[in-house]
Amino acid sequence: MSRFSKVSIQIPENIQVLLPQGLLDKEMIPVLGMSLLALIVATAVIGSVFNARCKTVLMFCWNCFVKPFMPSSVRRSRSAAQQQALEAFYETQAKIYDTTRSTLLKGREDSLKLAISHLSKTKNLVWVDVGGGTGFNIEQMDSIFPLMKHFKAIYIVDLSPSLLTVAKERFDAMGLTNVHCLLADACTFTIPYSSADLITFSYSLSMIPTFHSAIDHAALLLHKEGLICCVDFGVQSEVTTIGRVNTVGGMSGRHIPWILRTFWRTWFEADRVFLDPARRDYLEYRFGTVKSLNLYNRTLGDIPYYIWLGCDKDRSPSLLYRVNALATESPYLAPQDVPKGELEELKTSKGHEAAIQNESRNLPYPSMYYQRDIYRVYYDEQRPEYNQFNNQYIYAFTWEDPREDDSILHFTKEDSILAITSAGDNILSYASLPNAPSRIHCVDLNPCQGHLLELKLAAIKSLTREETWKMFGLGKIENFNELLIKKMAPHMSSNAFQYWFNLGPKTFGTNGRGLYYTGFSKWALRLARYVFKLTGTSGYVDELCKATTMEQQRKIWKTKLRPKLLNPVISKLLIGNPIFLWKALGVPANQASMMGSSVIKYLEDTLDPVVDRYMISNENYFYYLCLQGKYSKNNCPDYLTKEAHDRFNSKDSPLDNIRIHTDFLNDVFGRLTKKSLTIAIIMDHMDWFAEEGTDADDEISALYQSLAPGGRVLLRSASKCPWYIRNFEKFGFKCEAAAVRESGTAIDRVNMYSSTWVCHKAGKKRNMSTLEL
Ligand SMILES: C[S@@+](CC[C@H](N)C(=O)[O-])C[C@H]1O[C@@H](n2cnc3c(N)ncnc32)[C@H](O)[C@@H]1O
Repeated sequence: MSRFSKVSIQIPENIQVLLPQGLLDKEMIPVLGMSLLALIVATAVIGSVFNARCKTVLMFCWNCFVKPFMPSSVRRSRSAAQQQALEAFYETQAKIYDTTRSTLLKGREDSLKLAISHLSKTKNLVWVDVGGGTGFNIEQMDSIFPLMKHFKAIYIVDLSPSLLTVAKERFDAMGLTNVHCLLADACTFTIPYSSADLITFSYSLSMIPTFHSAIDHAALLLHKEGLICCVDFGVQSEVTTIGRVNTVGGMSGRHIPWILRTFWRTWFEADRVFLDPARRDYLEYRFGTVKSLNLYNRTLGDIPYYIWLGCDKDRSPSLLYRVNALATESPYLAPQDVPKGELEELKTSKGHEAAIQNESRNLPYPSMYYQRDIYRVYYDEQRPEYNQFNNQYIYAFTWEDPREDDSILHFTKEDSILAITSAGDNILSYASLPNAPSRIHCVDLNPCQGHLLELKLAAIKSLTREETWKMFGLGKIENFNELLIKKMAPHMSSNAFQYWFNLGPKTFGTNGRGLYYTGFSKWALRLARYVFKLTGTSGYVDELCKATTMEQQRKIWKTKLRPKLLNPVISKLLIGNPIFLWKALGVPANQASMMGSSVIKYLEDTLDPVVDRYMISNENYFYYLCLQGKYSKNNCPDYLTKEAHDRFNSKDSPLDNIRIHTDFLNDVFGRLTKKSLTIAIIMDHMDWFAEEGTDADDEISALYQSLAPGGRVLLRSASKCPWYIRNFEKFGFKCEAAAVRESGTAIDRVNMYSSTWVCHKAGKKRNMSTLEL
């Protein structure tokens, strides 16, 4: 019998049990009929929708992947003018254009939001969208920044009549009266205004063969204070930025691997879309880079694209003044208008040198110079020393007590201080004081520490207090990137923006552990959790953090936690282990050797007095964070309090006095105007030096040069009497221990160091003149 011969199946009578009895009842027939009808209608609807989708996709594939290779198209594309070629490509797709581009043309909304957040004016704007196609971006913009409210006139310029027809229908349907469609070439169009406040190219620059001319045309039209924004495909490689890295706003993700560069460039060429690096390079030459992002369309096989925001490269008349001011790195020492002849006598910063060098080659200034806020001092991101940090900050929080610094040093408004950046918490704490110093230079070699402080500054300046609290109090927030693009970005450098665009969502994501479980310092928190789990003390730790009286707290510590945590096994395995000390706590061997013969004793002397003196639940945010992974509103760094938030957002915000350097301490000292600092707070970092080397002397000598007469250095050490105090004395400093930790006493809320020292430079303290930037 063949496999296909008919097979008759006998249904036994008793099969009815498989069909519900009622199904065959007479009265059920209309119900059955109705159901069948509904099924048919549903199938027809789904089928037609599916068909429409299918048709759309097929049309897109035909137009993009097949038609360009047909002999007639090849011939036409060689000979025809651009408009005919464009129209041949778009006329059959105009109606399906928007549906088929949502997955392909990524970043369009983000680019608009970024541009809007950076605009210096918000009313009566003139916007030109070059190569605007169907007007998709203009519709998007309406939901971001209502068009009728903010724009005087909007011009959509395009060479394709069929796409512009769709655009026109769209604007009519939206009832927009201030949008005008111009069927014109990007290189020659005109508008009835002398300048535009915003010019955008959204996936159009890559389609314009005469892109130099289109960019030049845009440069002529752009208002001095205006912005130009481009989102497009592009395949940059590292080598194309040689000699101008400082102009491109950060190299993060910029280098596209060879295989992707070659494949996507060749692939898009068939549709006359050119991904060559020259377009973006020319934008970066013609304009100053305000922000830039290097991204991939992950949905469609990693197509590289970028978002770039630029401005007139000679934008503000204050730019040169800024360059001048930055040249001294301590502008408060320079008179407002430095007479030309005296300029050479001022110290020059690395940024100033880079800016002058760029100027001599007609390149834009380094991207740092086009930012609204001038916190971040220029640094040469290519320096190999920066690579040692693996693009990661070490400290997500600062582990020294700023309250103690003020009570020892008594800051005044006349002070100009320099401190190590770390996570920036102490810098912000100094700035929040009623007697805040007039200038705070913070220094860290790790660029990511600077990025973290920039983020804090940007958050405080642009977010609500509750949002800032979520980010840095709880370490988590919803919609991080939305807040970054729409609010924080204008207050940070492009490098910091790139960093947080890439890492922010993961760092602050509400599904993750939060900010304090990132960076190298996460290991301290993580290991604490493991140890609590291992010793079965997690519950007691929570109790300790909720204790309301000292007695309660002491009892939990003495009876439940101390015996288990400071036991010999844990101590030997962890605290007495140099690898653990370095890897988890960041204590290097040189410093460990200064802790005395017993590291375990050192730890007891640290922890016992802290628990004895401060309520962990509301008086000691340092330990609370380590135990809970977040702060509470009544137990947090100063900068997160309401008073600080109000002060920071008042007129003449003390935040504007902060300058973030990314360099070696000695390099910063060397570039600061001599005798310009009144206080340097150098934390415990001299403990890291080897006694036999010259590092300590080199630093003390540089410190001496930049300190004003009567200037002071505050330092902490793991030793009660650090060896380098002698070196300070050798240079003429008078050194005094401001606090020495004896067993059973706490010298501050951290109590991690054995001593705090103040080294005075001889001479009478004098007031600094101030210069407003
Ligand atoms: C990929 S589409 C992008 C359209 C729209 N900006 C968007 O984001 O959806 C590129 C657009 O650039 C336009 N275009 C290409 N060359 C042009 C030129 N020389 N002048 C004006 N428009 C041009 C095309 O007609 C097309 O509308």
